[in-house]
Amino acid sequence: MLRLAGKKVFVVGVGPGLGSATAYLLLKEGASVVIASRNEDRLKSVKAQLAIFGQIDYVVGDVSSMEGAKRLVHDAVDKYGSVDHLALIAGDYIDSPIEELTEEQLDRMIDANLKSPLYALSAALQDLKAGSSIVMISSVFGTYATGVRNVAYSATKAGVAKSVEVLAMELSQKGIRVNAVAPRAMNHDFVPGRDWKSLRKLGEKACPPEDVASVVVWLLSGESEWIDGAVIPVDGGEKR
Ligand SMILES: NC(=O)c1ccc[n+]([C@@H]2O[C@H](COP(=O)([O-])OP(=O)(O)OC[C@H]3O[C@@H](n4cnc5c(N)ncnc54)[C@H](OP(=O)(O)O)[C@@H]3O)[C@@H](O)[C@H]2O)c1
Repeated sequence: MLRLAGKKVFVVGVGPGLGSATAYLLLKEGASVVIASRNEDRLKSVKAQLAIFGQIDYVVGDVSSMEGAKRLVHDAVDKYGSVDHLALIAGDYIDSPIEELTEEQLDRMIDANLKSPLYALSAALQDLKAGSSIVMISSVFGTYATGVRNVAYSATKAGVAKSVEVLAMELSQKGIRVNAVAPRAMNHDFVPGRDWKSLRKLGEKACPPEDVASVVVWLLSGESEWIDGAVIPVDGGEKR
């Protein structure tokens, strides 16, 4: 039985990696999917690539402002009339040793990794209902691992991890779950239908995006309904 049959899922932040892999695995589980980012050409090509697997459409916009997030959610809800679940994938990375960290770099990390998922979540809330599930993307560098040269990235991904804890408690009264995954590193642009498990071994640092996307899909599905406020490391056992 398909785990998300009849569900409508909004995936915010769809690039060639995790967003595309998540959309693909959602379609394979029977969901109708709306994908979003700022790049219409990419969204068009992801839609064309994945349309054979199920119902997929796209909306174009920028969620780093509340106004932009509201507009994008409005357009997404318009596509199928409602939304059940939310995958907040949008994010960005820069190396930023503290001696060289600029205001622009710190703002860029805050905009992409903190403001974007929080504004999108806030804008979508009025359309979500009991049983809805929200998944955010942190990082092992925002949780248990300590990298160097990436203070702005790590601090903002730590903010995502804390947000999940707070929002899960805030939204539990409404029956809405909030969780996150914390990937280590993902490589290989996503290709639908490939044997992705053959591309990595336990203990390696990086995985194909499908490894992370499959946990996102599980968190969106009813199989995980007693998981709330969790940040799940997806690191293949590599803790260094
Ligand atoms: N790759 C890794 O090794 C790794 C490791 C740990 C965590 N993560 C996290 O996992 C997530 C996905 O990673 P990825 O490597 O697949 O990233 P990616 O290819 O950069 O995809 C993220 C997408 O988010 C979109 N986006 C960014 N800001 C946005 C905004 N303000 N409004 C709308 N869309 C926006 C971007 O598309 P446009 O520029 O076209 O808008 C981009 O294609 C990110 O949150 C990342 O931080 C990645």
